[in-house]
Amino acid sequence: MAAGAALPLEARAPDAASAAPGARPRHVAIIMDGNGRWAKSRHQPRTLGHKAGVDALRRTVEAAGDLGLEVLTVYAFSTENWRRPASEVEWLFALLRSYVRSDLDRLDAAGVRIRVLGRREGLPQDILDLIALAETRTAANTAMTLVIAFNYGGQAELVDAMRAIARRVLLGGVDPDSIDEAMIAESLGTADWPDPELIVRTSGEQRLSNFLIWQSAYSEFVFTPVLWPDFGRRDLEAALNEYAGRQRRFGGV
Ligand code: FPP
Repeated sequence: MAAGAALPLEARAPDAASAAPGARPRHVAIIMDGNGRWAKSRHQPRTLGHKAGVDALRRTVEAAGDLGLEVLTVYAFSTENWRRPASEVEWLFALLRSYVRSDLDRLDAAGVRIRVLGRREGLPQDILDLIALAETRTAANTAMTLVIAFNYGGQAELVDAMRAIARRVLLGGVDPDSIDEAMIAESLGTADWPDPELIVRTSGEQRLSNFLIWQSAYSEFVFTPVLWPDFGRRDLEAALNEYAGRQRRFGGV
């Protein structure tokens, strides 16, 4: 995938190969849930659960690369997570900082392209600088794309896309009747990679929670009771096996 070039709609949607019975998805997206419960069950502060969550993220990124995924997206901080206590928000920022600082060299060497999905407004300048560094350093890598959804919300992403398209209409370059699915998809933060064929949520919750709401139109879902800090290679493999057994028809028969 060329960096920065929006994929045409037909290339972004699930293709026959990744939808065939027994196939492996190109893109898996994960809602990493259950850090707080994991910590609580150990009589530890929630922050410790998030710290253990970073270790699970490391295991999962490595496994995703070994299993040949093209794209792995992880939901690390949602636009709704600002409602958490300031200390927990700051802790999640600190974890992003330490993850990028400690893992960037290794991820770059492994050929992982890093992209951070979400609104930049509201993020501290040093985080913005780190994001720019990680994205620039790894832009030409092709082994796998790791998308970190941070300060991300699917509705906010759609709002931003609608605003961008409305500006183009106002400037006279776009006829409202020419607005279609392809134009909207190209206006989203995810324009450069295919939609997820599989979305996994840990901790037993069965909700999308404003994650990739446009891009999940045809996604399969796997919900596992495993709490995110316990998640690892075997759980990812189990989710891929479950996906391989699903029949995907995309509205056809
Ligand atoms: C949900 O668990 C998890 C989050 C809101 C944060 C996810 C973050 C990580 C896994 C680590 C951060 C990684 C980076 C790269 C910044 P929860 O706290 O809602 O758990 P609970 O439902 O059990 O309370």
